Amino acid sequence: MKISVIGCGYLGAVHAACMAQLGHDVVGVDVDAAKIEVLARAEAPFFEPGLNEILHSATETGRLRFSTDIGAVRDAQVHFIAVGTPQRRGENAADLTYVDAALEGLLPHLGPDDLVVGKSTVPVGTAARLAARVAEAGSGAVLAWNPEFLREGFAVKDTISPDRLVYGVGAGESGERAVALLDEVYATALSHETPLIVTDYATAELVKVSANAFLATKISFINAMAEVAEAAGGDVTALADAIGHDARIGRRFLNAGIGFGGGCLPKDIRAFTARAEELGRGESVAFLKEVDKINLRRRERMVDMVVEALGGTVYQKKVTVLGLAFKPESDDVRDSPALDVAVRLNGLGAHVVATDPAAIPNSIRLHPQLGFATDTRDALRGADAVVLVTEWPEYRRLDPAEVGGLVNDRLVLDGRNVLDPQVWREAGWTYHGMGRP
Ligand code: UGA
Repeated sequence: MKISVIGCGYLGAVHAACMAQLGHDVVGVDVDAAKIEVLARAEAPFFEPGLNEILHSATETGRLRFSTDIGAVRDAQVHFIAVGTPQRRGENAADLTYVDAALEGLLPHLGPDDLVVGKSTVPVGTAARLAARVAEAGSGAVLAWNPEFLREGFAVKDTISPDRLVYGVGAGESGERAVALLDEVYATALSHETPLIVTDYATAELVKVSANAFLATKISFINAMAEVAEAAGGDVTALADAIGHDARIGRRFLNAGIGFGGGCLPKDIRAFTARAEELGRGESVAFLKEVDKINLRRRERMVDMVVEALGGTVYQKKVTVLGLAFKPESDDVRDSPALDVAVRLNGLGAHVVATDPAAIPNSIRLHPQLGFATDTRDALRGADAVVLVTEWPEYRRLDPAEVGGLVNDRLVLDGRNVLDPQVWREAGWTYHGMGRP
């Protein structure tokens, strides 16, 4: 199929490359000339395992190209809108400027057999509004909403082999046309029995935000248990293991620590709250405000723990911060709890030396006031406290005896509860986890 992808950020670049890899003819379009230039060289503009490889192989087949010219979509029949929907400045609601601009740019190029497919995360009601706009423009094209569930770090795998597909389509013949075209786009995944849910626009939009709201709630639930465990003297990791054995609960996303961040979960729960309030159902999702608050409290708690462990002040203490990305296998520092902790400690007068295998360049851009070291051992040298805030495999594997020789004081604070307290204590370290003794 001939496909266009408007917006070549995280979602769009991965989608474009994966669709070409699956055999489609794809053009990716973005207004950011620098990004397009990098992608046109078959290079990923951000860190994502496996993306460089498929960009390279798909570009070599001639089935993948990139352009800054929206007119390049003209030959395509299926047009994915994959632009960002960031949080509006000073508000909780999502900013739909880029979605609206993408659609307006696309409209003059649509033919009667074309399909516009929304992939961006949007407030419920957006798809119906955009479908009306497509109909009004009179090309005969139709619109579908096809939310994306990829995780950063696993984006290629999640796009090639999704765990489910959701099509939100219009009623009647336009909906049937949309389903038929999407079935062609996703023929490979469908041939592998990927579950498919065909539904209306509103449900498809809600599936996406409710999935992220559920995941955020699960994380804040276990972090709330960590807060209680801290007060009562319990161990939240043992608690998570125990309740996780109940298949109805499940162990995944029950890792307590400094909480969730990134470009999706935080802004999506806020936008969902704002939209529900507009719909007169604010009380239905009022708990998401608590989810957000619990989450932000854990970052503060981490900072307080460092201050306490250093005897009441971090002023002029050397604090090594292991991790800056919002999660491992990513260079993304959007709303990163790890970077936030580093910045707060620096604000309290600590001499912060932060390190991360991938996220230093993005962190320097936002917070050049921090100290950085690319080498973990350099970062650790002379530390009064070591704070692990992103659980990269190399940090989980650190040998406490060996790194104990580098630091000034054997004090470690584990913001992700991934180190073995017993092993670290036996090596002479003072260990503090979050919600565990
Ligand atoms: C999330 C969803 O998991 C994807 O399904 C969704 O498609 C995506 O948002 C999106 O809307 O685009 P992602 O932002 O890549 O994906 O990150 P997650 O793996 O969900 O992790 C989010 C945050 O939660 C990270 O900061 C992570 O460290 C934290 N987390 C995760 C915990 O604190 N505890 C856990 O048990 C799990």
